[in-house]
Amino acid sequence: MKKHLISCKQYDNHEQLETLFGLTAKVNKPYYREDYPVSPCAYVAENKIMATLFYEPSTRTRFSFEAAMHKLGGNVISSDSAGQFSSHAKGESLEDTIKVVSQYADVIVLRHPEKGAAQRAASVNGSTIINAGDGDGEHPTQALLDLYTIKKRFNKIDGLRVALVGDLTHSRTIHSLIYLLTLYKDMNVLLCSPKEFSLPEEHIAHLLEKRVKFAPWNDVKTMLREGKPDVIYLTRLQKERLDPLKKIITEHQWMGWSFGQEELELAKEDAIIMHPLPRLQELSTCVDKDKKAVYLTEQIKCGLEVRTGLLYSLFYNNTI
Ligand code: NCD
Repeated sequence: MKKHLISCKQYDNHEQLETLFGLTAKVNKPYYREDYPVSPCAYVAENKIMATLFYEPSTRTRFSFEAAMHKLGGNVISSDSAGQFSSHAKGESLEDTIKVVSQYADVIVLRHPEKGAAQRAASVNGSTIINAGDGDGEHPTQALLDLYTIKKRFNKIDGLRVALVGDLTHSRTIHSLIYLLTLYKDMNVLLCSPKEFSLPEEHIAHLLEKRVKFAPWNDVKTMLREGKPDVIYLTRLQKERLDPLKKIITEHQWMGWSFGQEELELAKEDAIIMHPLPRLQELSTCVDKDKKAVYLTEQIKCGLEVRTGLLYSLFYNNTI
């Protein structure tokens, strides 16, 4: 039984994920009963309070968590610019803030610019902490929803060829997703990035340790032609994580990295194109209407569903 959700390393096997996904499907199933019109799920979080404590910007993660909590009949207290508006601005430590907010809320969904912040928050021994992104560390709930999206489309994970494209150095969603992918059989991971933005050593070491097949690529078109991925997972350049000088140089180089009509035509017929969003120039809007694109549709829907499943699991089964 785990009290916090800090890292996808917490999952030891794929059965744990299947359990969560099964619950997610059940909780989100349309409910029709004339004699009892309200789904029992709608009361699971009654009298519970979730705090969303966000020290970095967010649209999808915060709103979907809050919407999920409302769907389960719970209550939300929120700071969407905690860096500016909480006592952090007066110099309060994260640990003190968590000690205090833990006395108001049963669960704290935390986003913070520093890697390791969620782990620090969890060690305070307060409320359940859900890591909603810690710097360039991890973003476990995004990876869970990404995997659920893939599972729904292909009806399996084993044996898929997954291309991770873009800023592999700083993308916390990719770091978390790698931990989940390595729990499955016969995976093939294609790591496609400019060489300055390759995957950090600790994640390469994990792929090696789990004996997952992987290969680096430095050109998207070649990777699509030769690597033939089933899943194409794009990410933006994480400008906010670069030092100012590197930012100017790399932003310029980065402009050439984009996925548009030509790349779309090179993708396999039944491939899916994913993105955690927000997208910038790396993903052209001309891709949006294609049936391969799921980032504005299924992936968003799965985000709300998985977060509802997670909160249900927390409040009904006391596990996360
Ligand atoms: C991602 C994040 O915050 O890490 N966004 C998200 O939660 N959907 C990706 C990003 O910011 O690029």
